[in-house]
Amino acid sequence: MRRLLVTGGAGFVGVHLVQHAVEHSDCQVTVLDKLTYAASPEALTALPPDRMRLVVGDVADAMMVDGLVASHDAVVHLAAESHNDNSLQDPSAFVETNLVGTFTLLEAVRRHGVRLHHVSTDEVYGDLPLDSPDRFTESSPYRPSSPYSATKAGADHLVRAWIRSYGIPATISNSSNNYGPWQHIEKFIPRQITNLLDGRQPKLYGNGQQIRDWLHVSDHASAIWAILGQGRLGETYLVGADGEQTNLEVVRTILAHLVREDLDVDLVADRVGHDQRYAIDSAKLRVELGWRPLFNDFEAGLADTIDWYAANESWWRPAKERAEAEYAARGQ
Ligand code: NAD
Ligand code: DAU
Repeated sequence: MRRLLVTGGAGFVGVHLVQHAVEHSDCQVTVLDKLTYAASPEALTALPPDRMRLVVGDVADAMMVDGLVASHDAVVHLAAESHNDNSLQDPSAFVETNLVGTFTLLEAVRRHGVRLHHVSTDEVYGDLPLDSPDRFTESSPYRPSSPYSATKAGADHLVRAWIRSYGIPATISNSSNNYGPWQHIEKFIPRQITNLLDGRQPKLYGNGQQIRDWLHVSDHASAIWAILGQGRLGETYLVGADGEQTNLEVVRTILAHLVREDLDVDLVADRVGHDQRYAIDSAKLRVELGWRPLFNDFEAGLADTIDWYAANESWWRPAKERAEAEYAARGQ
């Protein structure tokens, strides 16, 4: 594989995947990204210009996508609207990018017979009870809760249908929650870190007992790379690193690292339809492809992430006040 197209390559997961691809191969990467509010093109500027180029455009633009797919050997599809809370406010961009964008890409892939890896989320499986040992597997039923997860589930179904009906050479991965550098401060962990750096209280939805299965974003990138290179065509792989934590536990770890255990947490309005627990069984990925996460110590990975946000205020500061004003308007 010489020429790799990465949609959404200027987003949080995208910048780590592009960096991984440049470091672990000699391929040339083209990033197709609309540069929405969530993009961080500055994270790509350190890459050698002969290895990475950025094309600003919409994954739902059929003519542009057709030309790009035709001139590449493989595509990793990450472009999406990704935040549940935004999808509850206004789902329209989610339908446009996550569904119509995926359809547009699939048609180009079908025309040109190009290898596709579609990046999706564990949220397509809905949620699990808080007090059960169950975990999601590749055969869990689809049961999405939010407009975001419904559009991701719909996109997965489109990819599965294009595999079965048209035989496109594609794989799918469904990952648990990622954390690490370059994540937009609207998301849970960066929001709490930057609140604390600003002297604000951490904000927990509801009672803070919801559980997420945290995965370092670098480990997500290495998993995508393994599936792109060695995954069996037509298959789905779940990605996770056994990182279950309640939201309250995560906040307590951040408070301890910043030596602010004196601060109370602020219990704010709950998310409508809030998924209670996600948990991933990644045995298929580990056994079939030999993938292993490198960040097995969540507290250490979180400490590095906190330090990164403390050192990179100039990157997140412009987005902070607007995001907090939107949260405040919703009582969150
Ligand atoms: P993000 O919001 O940080 O980045 C999304 C990127 O897509 C941005 O650069 C944005 O500009 C771009 N984009 C949005 N609409 C576009 C369009 N119409 N055309 C072209 N580009 C567009 O999201 P992320 O966290 O990096 O997630 C990337 C992918 O990984 C998504 O498909 C998401 O569902 C999936 N995923 C993320 C996580 C996670 O925890 N972050 C976990 C599982 C799966
Ligand atoms: O599971 C994978 C998914 O993880 C990805 O598909 C999504 O793109 C990604 O955004 C993430 O979805 P979540 O909704 O789980 O992540 P978020 O960071 O929004 O919230 C994580 C948890 O923290 C969730 O239980 C809601 C809660 N929360 C969130 C915010 C922003 C709070 O308690 N307080 C907050 O201020």
